[in-house]
Amino acid sequence: MRKRLTKIQAVRGMNDILPSDSPFWHKIESVFQRLAESYGYQEIRTPIVESTTLFTHAIGELTDIVEKEMYTFSDKNGEKLSLRPEGTASCVRAGIQHGLFYNQIQRLWYVGPMFRHERPQKGRYRQFHQFGIEAYGFSGADIDAEIILLSRRLWRELNLEEHVHLQLNSLGTLAERNQYREKLVEYFKDNISLLDEDSHRRLENNPLRILDSKNQAMQELIQKAPSFLDYLGSESLSHFQQLQSLLSDNGVKFTINPRLVRGLDYYGSTVFEWVCDHLGAQSTVCAGGRYDQLVETHGGKPTPAIGFAGGIERLILILESLGQSYQQTVHAYLVLNSDKATQAGIKIAETLRQAVPGLNLVTNCGGGSYKSQFKKADKSGATIALILGDTEIGQDKISIKPLREDTSQQLITIENLIEQLTSIVNEEKR
Ligand code: HAM
Repeated sequence: MRKRLTKIQAVRGMNDILPSDSPFWHKIESVFQRLAESYGYQEIRTPIVESTTLFTHAIGELTDIVEKEMYTFSDKNGEKLSLRPEGTASCVRAGIQHGLFYNQIQRLWYVGPMFRHERPQKGRYRQFHQFGIEAYGFSGADIDAEIILLSRRLWRELNLEEHVHLQLNSLGTLAERNQYREKLVEYFKDNISLLDEDSHRRLENNPLRILDSKNQAMQELIQKAPSFLDYLGSESLSHFQQLQSLLSDNGVKFTINPRLVRGLDYYGSTVFEWVCDHLGAQSTVCAGGRYDQLVETHGGKPTPAIGFAGGIERLILILESLGQSYQQTVHAYLVLNSDKATQAGIKIAETLRQAVPGLNLVTNCGGGSYKSQFKKADKSGATIALILGDTEIGQDKISIKPLREDTSQQLITIENLIEQLTSIVNEEKR
């Protein structure tokens, strides 16, 4: 006999999505897909594994993601590969590789797993899932507003609008960032004794990243740092003001947060985060911004770009904290009262599924007493039970018993049943 394995557990920070959770996932994914398509965005699916260089180059050597969090390995040919920590770099790579940016605009969406070796805690996992939007070829503030409005619509559809808040900043142009950077380095050098080890290291190479530090002890220093907004040139300022005006015009409330720099290096101009108080320390549910240089620095022609990504697990935490729940719908459960009924029932069930589009019908399998089958019917959440026994077969009919209201059982024809099931399915869709 083979040796029994000790119990294998999932990898730390990587979660199973169990059947009871699936309806949340289906709800979020289907609402997001429908919304993205309603704004003309098209789906893109990229591989989960890419060349490590893609991410180090796009996200930045001195970011937490690249320095500490990537799952990197060499494959059998010695090629250095990484599990994707985010989706933007892959969209840029795919767009360049397939010529999607040549004299074309692109509006793309995606959903999928991402991997970061962070310390797991509530709302922070090593495998997590993002829904994302990326738009290419648009340089104006109109597209910035569009994607923020799209995200606002998602909160609306999920009844979350009053629970999330938008933070906005502009990181200007490269020249403006360089000028700001100098001032920031001066400021931090004047306060060098207050910097932690990470910030010391970043002071020369990537001082903006210090503003993104989560170290509580440094928050006061960060709050008092020079504000980026004082270094924006007239074009950057005008773009930022246009965006604010479009958002206000559409009733989007926001706070300007001059310390918002984001954890990835590719951003410039508009950056934003949607935050929620229900999430504890991991309060950002969705975030993004402009990355107008990224396509060019990856070998494509200059292509303005903007996007965002949201965390599905964090969204579910918010929905749960608000007591929202979703269930997979079962319209009918077929109780089979004899061997003969099982034989006939399987055939009738197929006829019903064929005749009623959208019908969710569970057939009792594995036998069992009338009572135990009814218990299963009740547990399934079905609206009605259908009962097939020898009496029903003898009369070419079927019995129907509503499970969620106090109405008696009725014996009806299959034609009549099809009508009733159609109206149950249509009622549920409304
Ligand atoms: P990000 O801010 O790194 O941006 O991630 C976006 C969202 O993914 C976060 O706001 C959060 O909801 C979720 N998330 C990130 N890390 C974790 C984690 N360890 N566990 C659970 N959820 C997490 C990006 O990834 C950019 N690619 C967004 C973007 C798209 N910018 C432009 N286009």
